[in-house]
Amino acid sequence: MKYDISTTAPEGQRTGCLVLGVPGGRRELYAAAARADDKSGGWIRWLARESGDLPERIGSTALTHEVPGIRAERVLLVRCGQQERMSRREFRRVSRAAAAALQDIGGANIRNGLPLLEVEDADARWKACQTVLAAEEAGYRFDRFRRRPPAQRSGARRATRNMTLVVSGRVARRGAERGIREGGAVARGMSFAKDLANQPANICTPIYLAQQAGRLQKDFKNIKVKSLGPEALKRLGMNALLAVARGSHQPPRLILVEYEGAPDRRERPIVLVGKGVTFDTGGISLKPAAAMDEMKFDMCGAAGVLGTIAAAAELQLPLRVVGVVPATENMPGGNASRPGDIVASMSGQTVEILNTDAEGRLILCDALTYSERFRPDTVIDLATLTGACVIALGKHATGLLSNHNPLARELLAAGEAIEDRAWQLPLWDEYQEQLHSSFADMGNIGGREAGTITAACFLSRFAKKFRWAHLDIAGTAWLGGKEKKATGRPVPLLTQYLLARCS
Ligand code: BES
Ligand code: MN
Ligand code: ZN
Repeated sequence: MKYDISTTAPEGQRTGCLVLGVPGGRRELYAAAARADDKSGGWIRWLARESGDLPERIGSTALTHEVPGIRAERVLLVRCGQQERMSRREFRRVSRAAAAALQDIGGANIRNGLPLLEVEDADARWKACQTVLAAEEAGYRFDRFRRRPPAQRSGARRATRNMTLVVSGRVARRGAERGIREGGAVARGMSFAKDLANQPANICTPIYLAQQAGRLQKDFKNIKVKSLGPEALKRLGMNALLAVARGSHQPPRLILVEYEGAPDRRERPIVLVGKGVTFDTGGISLKPAAAMDEMKFDMCGAAGVLGTIAAAAELQLPLRVVGVVPATENMPGGNASRPGDIVASMSGQTVEILNTDAEGRLILCDALTYSERFRPDTVIDLATLTGACVIALGKHATGLLSNHNPLARELLAAGEAIEDRAWQLPLWDEYQEQLHSSFADMGNIGGREAGTITAACFLSRFAKKFRWAHLDIAGTAWLGGKEKKATGRPVPLLTQYLLARCS
């Protein structure tokens, strides 16, 4: 989709489809809809209130053709709530509903009047950004393994379309321009992440991940990518990462992505570390069969790092950002690590691998140690780390743990701002005891209680030298069941965090 902005009243403009919000109940029509209603001789009001075609549920839509007095070929009405000013959540519901409905409608040009709606705590920039995110989300497809894409309704609709966001006034125009740019960059970062994550594990191997990271170097002149193979990892002493890779025939990679956007090359970078387990069988501590296919998504942390750096580079943010992605499969086999095996991590600390299914922390601990060499300002890791996080927070919030409270607050605020939210869990010393090992410096599991916290406790022991936050995206990075697909999270949260770091 292409986007532009208009500040002229939409009802007088020729377009394929005009999108307007109408309030619930008996409330007076919003200004744009009221004007259109006048022009049409009461048609819009009748449709919204009397026709019975537009249910009261927020996000219901009704499509109508050839409204008298209005130059648009179609008008799509979207039901909003009954409050005086709508909440940001309501605006998101409404714009997502409109975006979904637009998928099934012809016409190459869309005039979207929803950004005219008054939204609490939101400006034109925010509304434009959310509008773009909603449209791109609805338009995302992953069809490369289907011989025929499903249910194409009409020949007209697949051509690239244009959406004009209608706003009012010069200030709003400038805000919306920014919002479109930022929303577009975030959406493309998310699509990049989704494309990687939706790919099956027989294609998306550690080597494939490294190759796809290499695309960033082609697309952006200030991104450099390199990757290290097993020999280099051995020389570096990354034995925890290698212990996970042992069972697989796919060689591991440590993928390094450097985005140099800061005017001063000596500026300390923000390092993003992403768990890149391209498939997690559990290893010798084998997982049960049910839904194991979803463990192809166990590289969503890696995808999130690459997607975020792509967004940062598209926006040319004046920052240094480094991506560190340990990539491997976790497989059983004759050469696989066994429960009870002890390895010396790159940091020198020894780990007793009590459960080979707690592999994420093993590859991340060496990646965190490796991050020290960038003299980071901040390190943030993202990982589909624990099933316990899904139990605690479900699919709505990412788990956040940090050794630095101001950093945690910045990340929480970024998530709120772009509606990709995280929720903080405590990282108290008391929990550290659960990582006790009878034979090594620590075990790699902490028992049934507080599984998300003890996993973060494990990582914290390798993050002593910098400000660090951990995002457990096990519940948010993909949707399971019938709706199965990667979500592109937490690219919005992280890009918003980077944007905030610039201002
Ligand atoms: N990748 C999984 C975590 C996971 C499981 C994410 C299910 C989303 C859905 C991770 O490697 C894992 O297996 N974690 C174990 C840790 C346990 C052995 C301490 C878990 O959560 O069960
Ligand atoms: Mn696992
Ligand atoms: Zn895993």
